[in-house]
Amino acid sequence: MIYFDNAATSWPKPEEVYQGVSTFMRRAGANPGRGGHRLAQEAAAMVEETRQALAKFLGVKNAKQVVFTSNATEALNLGIKGVLVPGDHVVTTSMEHNSVLRPLHYLQRDGISYTIVAADSEGYVCPEKVENAVQSNTKLIIMTHASNVTGTVMPIVEVGQWARERGLLFLVDGAQTVGELAVDLSQLPVDLLAFPGHKALLGPTGTGALFIRDGLVLQPLLVGGTGVESELAGQPEEMPYRYESGTLNTTGLAGLQAALNYHQKLGQSAISATISALTNRFIQGCSMIPRVTIYGPKEKAVERTGVVSLNIQGLNPDELGFILDEVYGIAVRAGLHCAPQAHKTIGTYPAGTVRFSFSVFNNIEQVDTAVEALQEIAEQSGG
Ligand SMILES: Cc1ncc(COP(=O)(O)O)c(C=O)c1O
Repeated sequence: MIYFDNAATSWPKPEEVYQGVSTFMRRAGANPGRGGHRLAQEAAAMVEETRQALAKFLGVKNAKQVVFTSNATEALNLGIKGVLVPGDHVVTTSMEHNSVLRPLHYLQRDGISYTIVAADSEGYVCPEKVENAVQSNTKLIIMTHASNVTGTVMPIVEVGQWARERGLLFLVDGAQTVGELAVDLSQLPVDLLAFPGHKALLGPTGTGALFIRDGLVLQPLLVGGTGVESELAGQPEEMPYRYESGTLNTTGLAGLQAALNYHQKLGQSAISATISALTNRFIQGCSMIPRVTIYGPKEKAVERTGVVSLNIQGLNPDELGFILDEVYGIAVRAGLHCAPQAHKTIGTYPAGTVRFSFSVFNNIEQVDTAVEALQEIAEQSGG
C-alpha cells in the first residue's frame, strides 16, 4: 500500500512513536494531576515535558501558553468560541476547513456574524481583501496557514501584522503546516494557533493543541476537573489548566513527545525539503499527462505544502480514488475534504478533487508509481 493521505493524518508514524505510546501505557499509565503517588507524578512530568518540547518546537517561551486538545478541531472551537461574544464580527476566508466554518455558522444563533473573503482560483487570499472586509465590530480574523485542498500557503505574516496594528485578534489554523513548514511563534504576529499533533508532527491521533498568546483570556470550551484548585466552585484561571478539563490523552501525548524528538533529530528544514521535493516531482510528472488538471498555485511566488489536488477529465473523483485504491494500492482522499467553500472557489464543487498528500515517509519511487498509475488511468478512460 502506498499511503498518500497524510493531510488527513500521517501514517506511518516513526517507530519511536509506537514505542513511546507502548512504554508509557505499560509503565506509568496513571492520571496526571489526579493523585500524589509516584505513577501520577510520572505521568504529570511526561505531560509537562511534552508541553515544553512542543513550546520549544514552536518558539514559545512560556510552555503554559500551549493548551492540549484532542485535535485541531477542538483547538479551533476553543479559540473561536473562547473570544467571541454577541455582536462580534469575524473575517475569514473561503479556503477554510469546516472546523472553522461550522463553528461560525452555529455562532450566528448567538448574534455573531462573519464575512467570508473569496480566494482566487489558485486558493490564494490577498491580504487587501481581508483588510477590506473588516468592519467596526470585527474582533477576529481567522485564516488557514495553508489550504488542505490546494496546499496554497496564505500570507499570514502580512495579515497578522495588519491585524495587530489595529488591535484585532488573529487566529491561524495550522492544521496543514505545523510540522511541515517552519512555524516560529516568536516571530509570527499570531494570537491563537490551532493545530493537530497527528498530521505533519507525526504524533498519534487524538492529539492537538492551541497556542494562546500571553495575556489573552478565553472562555473555556469545557469546564470540570482540572486537577488544580479543586476548592474553587468555578474554573481556575491558571494556564493551561483553565482549558484542560477532564483526563488528558496521556498515551497520545507520550507518542507526541516521541514524535517531537524524531522531528528534532531530522530537523525541520530537512523534513520540509523532502516533502517539497516529492511534491514538485509529483506535479511535474502529472503535468505531462493529458486530461489531468492540477489545482493550486502555479506561480513559484506562492508557496505550497505537500498537498496536491487533481482531476482526470471525464472521471468522477470518487471513482478515481476508488481505482487508485483497488487496482493500484494507492490511498488518497477524494471529494470535498471538509472544505466545500474551497472547492467552490477553485471550481470543483460539488464533486471535488482527488487529493494526494505527502509525508517524510514517502519516497520518489512511490511518487513515480502514482504518476504512472494516473497516466494509465487517464489513457484507459480517454475513450
Ligand atoms: C485545514 C484544516 N483545518 C482543520 C482540520 C481539522 O483537523 P483535526 O482532524 O485534527 O480536527 C483539518 C483536517 O484535515 C484541516 O486540514
